[in-house]
Formats: sequence, C-alpha cells, structure tokens
Amino acid sequence: MVTTDHLRALFPDDAALKAHDPPSPIDQRNILVDGELKHWPGETVPVRSAVCVRKPDGSLEQIRLGSYPTAGIPEAMEALDAAVEAYDDGRGEWPTMAVAQRIACMQEFTRLMIESRGEIIDLIMWEIGKSRTDSEKEFDRTVDYIKATIAALKELDNSNSRFLVVEGTIGQIRRTPLGVVLCMGPYNYPLNETFATLIPAMIMGNTVVFKPPTFGVLLFNPLLEAFRKAFPPGVINTVYGRGSEIVPALLESGKINVLTLIGSSKVADHLKKMHPKVNRLRAILGLDAKNAAIVLPDADMNLAVKECVSGALSFNGQRCTALKMLIVHRDIVDDFIARLVAEVDKLKIGMPWEKSVTITPLPDLKKVEHMTRLVEDAKSKGARVLNKGGGTVCGTLFAPAIVYPVKEDMLLYREEQFGPIVPIMSFDNVETALEYVITSEHGQQVSIFSENPETIGKLVDPLVNQVCRVNVNCQCQRGPDVFPFTGRKDSAEGTLSVTDALRSFSIRSMVAAKQTEDSKRILNKIVRDHDSNFINTDFIF
Ligand code: G3H
Repeated sequence: MVTTDHLRALFPDDAALKAHDPPSPIDQRNILVDGELKHWPGETVPVRSAVCVRKPDGSLEQIRLGSYPTAGIPEAMEALDAAVEAYDDGRGEWPTMAVAQRIACMQEFTRLMIESRGEIIDLIMWEIGKSRTDSEKEFDRTVDYIKATIAALKELDNSNSRFLVVEGTIGQIRRTPLGVVLCMGPYNYPLNETFATLIPAMIMGNTVVFKPPTFGVLLFNPLLEAFRKAFPPGVINTVYGRGSEIVPALLESGKINVLTLIGSSKVADHLKKMHPKVNRLRAILGLDAKNAAIVLPDADMNLAVKECVSGALSFNGQRCTALKMLIVHRDIVDDFIARLVAEVDKLKIGMPWEKSVTITPLPDLKKVEHMTRLVEDAKSKGARVLNKGGGTVCGTLFAPAIVYPVKEDMLLYREEQFGPIVPIMSFDNVETALEYVITSEHGQQVSIFSENPETIGKLVDPLVNQVCRVNVNCQCQRGPDVFPFTGRKDSAEGTLSVTDALRSFSIRSMVAAKQTEDSKRILNKIVRDHDSNFINTDFIF
C-alpha cells in the first residue's frame, strides 16, 4: 500500500539527484523583442522543478531550475508594438512575403530547434515532471507537426496557384494573415500545444506576441535565439510577467487580432470581453473538458479497464483529453472497479526519468492541495477512495485516487480535476449517462465501451451532436494531428489540426478582374515578371 513514507523515499536525495544530472540553473535575462534579445535588468521569477530533493532530515524541497524576467505592462506593450510594426497593417515584410520564403524561414527554425532537442527535452522533464519518454515524444511530435504544417501549406498554396474564371470574372483566391496574434499555451504540453497554434499562426504571415505558460518557461530559452535567427524582426516577440496583469492590457489595446489560448474557458471568456471591438477579435481556443467514458454491460472488460486507466492517468491525468469521469453500468461496476484497482495498483509512481513510470510529481504544491480538496469533498459527501493509499500525498507526489460513487453534489462530478483522480459513477439506464454528457458545460470528447454494434450505433448518433469525437472502445485523445481537434460548449472555439489550423489563422482574400483583354494583359504581365507575391502561379515543390 502507498504511504507517505513510501512516496517520500521516491524522491532523490542530494547524491541521487546529482547522478540524474539536473540542468544547471538557467537565469534567463533575455526578452525577444523586435528581433533582438534584450537584456532584462529587473527582478526575476524563480523557477522550481516538479521534482523535489529529499534533505537529510526528510524534508522535501523543489529543485531550483533558474528564473525568468518578471517584466510587466511596459515590456508587454513594447512586444506588442514590435508585432504591430512588423505586421505594418499588412505591408510588413512577413505578411507580404511569398509563401515559399516563409516556409524557408520555418524550415530554418526547425533545423535550429532540432539542434536543441536534448536540452529542451530535459527542461520539459524537469520543469513540469513529465516522464522522459513522454517529454521525448512531445518534442518529436512537435517537429513532426511543423513538418506536416509545412507540407499542408505547400499543398494549400499550390491548389490556389491558378486563376478561376467564373461568369466573366477572373479571380485568384489565397489565404492571407489576420494580423497580430496573442499566443498562450498550456503547461501540460508546453511545447507541443503552444506550437500547435504558434507555428500555423506564424507561417500564415501573422506576427506574434507569445506568452509562455506558467510552468514550462525555461524550455523556450534555447529557442529564443532560433526564433531570432530564423524570422525577420518583430515576427515573434515574447512577454513575461503576471498574466492577469499584462494580458488584459494587451487586449484592451485593441491591437490584437487573434487570441489563441489553450487554457480555461473562464479566462478566455473574460479576456475576449476586454477587446474594445470584440467583432474584430478572432479566438482560437482549446479549453476545459470533462470527457466521460461510458462503460456498457457488454463491454470487453479487459479492454475497457486498460483504456480507462491510461485515459484517466497517463501524465497524471494532466491532459485536456483525459477521461475525467467513468460512468459504468451498475451490473458490472463492482467487477470493473476491482479490475481497475488492480491495474492502478500496478502503475509505477516515481521520478520522471525512471523507466515505465506513469505517476510523476505535479508541477506545483497548490495542485496537490487542490487534488486533496477534491477527494476530501467527495469523501465528506459519501464517496470512498477504493484503492489502498489512493490520494496519499508527499511533496509534489499525489498517489492516484479512485473515487466512488461520485454524485451530483460533489465537486468531482463536474469539475475538471486535471490530475490523478479517477471519479466513477454508475448507471442503470443509458439515458443517465447520456444526460450527464448533455448537461455538462463541456463538449470535447467521449469514450464508449461496448461489444454490441447496435448499442454503439444508437449511442453514437446523439453523442456526436454533443461532443466532437466519440471514441469507440478506446480512450479519448487528440491525435493523430491530421484529425480535427475541437469541442462544443465551453471546450473549444475554432478547430485545430494540421490543415484546420492553417485556416483558423488566416482568411481568404481574392483578387478579381473583369474578363477583358486588358485584364488578361495586366495579370499575365504581373505573373510573368513576378510583380506580386499574391498574384502568382508558382508551384512550391
Ligand atoms: O491537453 C490536451 C492535449 O491536447 C491532449 O493531447 O490527447 O495527445 O494527450 P493528447
């Protein structure tokens, strides 16, 4: 059984820590603004690892990883001005650049980014406590995403590299940028999910103000120089400081054209309203989710349990797509729970560098406290933690807790726990499960487990109108990245996928002329002499 002492012993002491070679502290003093790495002389925010060191007296201390500029509104405004100037109302070098050239800049950036692979993976692991294997996957998946984005843009642009003639009008239609994008990513996929919006935003010709997530800031340090080298000045600018202070100021300026945020719906709601002309603001948002798994009596139990364990607990349940409520038919709930407990007991808890570890330290003590609060609330209202030692805490480690029966009056019923808690409720009639999804504020995905095609078919039809992905006999997830990733209600705005993101961060614009001899002469001359980057019939290979 997991105990506090057992968890404490999992943290390294000073000697063990040295053997695992934590990165030397990075005291980042640079802010990337207008193509320059500007020295920040002021105060800094300390960065602590999710991993604690065990001191000889048994106390635990989060390891110091470095610091980054505190900065504030003046610096944020400087970054915004640089992005506005680089966009220059659509006249800037970047928004008017030929697509092939923008692609070349992005390829150069990717090459430089790959040079820092080891350092970035280390920082992901140490900053947020993601296992080394998953940190490696995150980096490699991001590089693949950039490459796929480049390929998709080539295809998009090539398909627009011709004129259309309709009802006596000659037209050429291309996708064009929207302006200045404010980009904020989440801590759980600090590199991948940030880049899932940042890269398409940039490659479509927008200029960017980028605020790194609360946890996972230093991993961008090696990339600042790569951004600086690969892109013209002002195309990407970084901001640091208290989000609650600087982000409203950026939006209130009215100079942000696109808000892209992977985070909470409450924050997104609040921020959107700060823009003086909301109709001018496009929002591409990945928000909260409380994905349910509906386990029917005829489910393949081994499969359902395996998928639910990994769906609920991989990376400590810190995935927006994680299964956050298991709704199990009453006839099988005891059997299901017994198997689930057995599988969760087998999960390895430990430090992120350990092989096949699943449960690792959380990035912040406040997160651990919040998990405890959620479990205590459920217990005080009649639920039990069914796995021995579930919910045990030591430092930044929280042993996964299976909580049953979760009822409507408990916080866990609706709140997105975003951590290692597995809430379970049972149902007699499938309508109860359906009703749970319908009455939820969230609408990202759902998983259904059944071996009966008729049951699945009947359930899929209403569910696809409630969420944006119904997973049959498998957990919820975002990938493959070519599939649309979105949600209804408070779960998302806009769609992300390799191709959808290119559309999300751009708008179609066209050049049109009457089909006259004069128009033909003018357009032919423009194309032949490359007088325009927009009007052209070049093919990008
Ligand atoms: O945090 C939300 C992520 O988009 C989840 O992605 O399903 O690939 O883990 P994933």
